[in-house]
Amino acid sequence: MTLPMLETPRLRLRPPVPADLEPWAAMMADEETARFIGSVQTRFMVWRSLMAMAGSWALNGYGFFSVIEKATGRWIGRVGPWHPEGWPAPEIAWGLVRPAWGQGYAAEAATAAIDWTFAALAWPSIAHVIHRENARSQALARRLGAERHGAATLPPPFDGAEADLWVQDRARWRARRRP
Ligand SMILES: CC(C)(COP(=O)(O)OP(=O)(O)OC[C@H]1O[C@@H](n2cnc3c(N)ncnc32)[C@H](O)[C@@H]1OP(=O)(O)O)[C@@H](O)C(=O)NCCC(=O)NCCS
Repeated sequence: MTLPMLETPRLRLRPPVPADLEPWAAMMADEETARFIGSVQTRFMVWRSLMAMAGSWALNGYGFFSVIEKATGRWIGRVGPWHPEGWPAPEIAWGLVRPAWGQGYAAEAATAAIDWTFAALAWPSIAHVIHRENARSQALARRLGAERHGAATLPPPFDGAEADLWVQDRARWRARRRP
C-alpha cells in the first residue's frame, strides 16, 4: 500500500513515523491538551498509540495523520480517520499541541483529512466524538459544517464520558467543498 501524503497551504500530513514519539509524548503530557483525548498519558502509552496507528494504516489502510508545520518542519499534532473497536461511528479525530491552537491549523488539517477520507474510504459519513465541555472542538466541528446528532456511548475505558456525536455526511461535505 502506498501511504498518502497530503499538503495544504501551511501543513503537511503524513502517517506517523517513530520519530513522532517525542513531540506526541510531549503533547500527551500537557494536561489541558490531553483533557478530552484520554487524559495525560505516559510515554509508554503514547508509544502504544503510535504503534496502534501504524497498525491501523497497515491493517485498515487509514489512521491518524501526523501534522507537520511546513514553515518550521515541526510536528504539531495528529488528525485523521479512525474507528476503534466499540466506537459509535467512524471518526475524524483531531488534536494539536497547544502553541498551534488559534491559527486555523486544525481546520486546515481536518479539511484535508476529510477530503482524503471521503475520496479513499467507503464511509458514507464521518463523526466527531466530542465531550460536552470541549468548546474548542465543538467550535471546530461547527466551522466544518458538522451537526450535532445526539449523545454517544463510548466503550470502556471511556464509558463514563459525556460525549456528543457531531456528524458530517459525504454529500453535504462534497457540496460544501465545491467551488
Ligand atoms: C480542538 C482543537 C483541535 C481546536 O483547535 P483550534 O486551533 O481552536 O481550531 P482551528 O484550527 O479551527 O482554529 C480556529 C482559531 O484560529 C483562528 N485563526 C487564526 N488564523 C486563522 C486562519 N488563517 N484561518 C482560520 N482560523 C484562524 C480563528 O480565529 C480561531 O480563533 P479562536 O480560537 O480565538 O476562535 C484544539 O483545541 C486541540 O487540539 N485541543 C486538544 C485536543 C482535543 O481536545 N481534541 C478534540 C477531541 S474531541
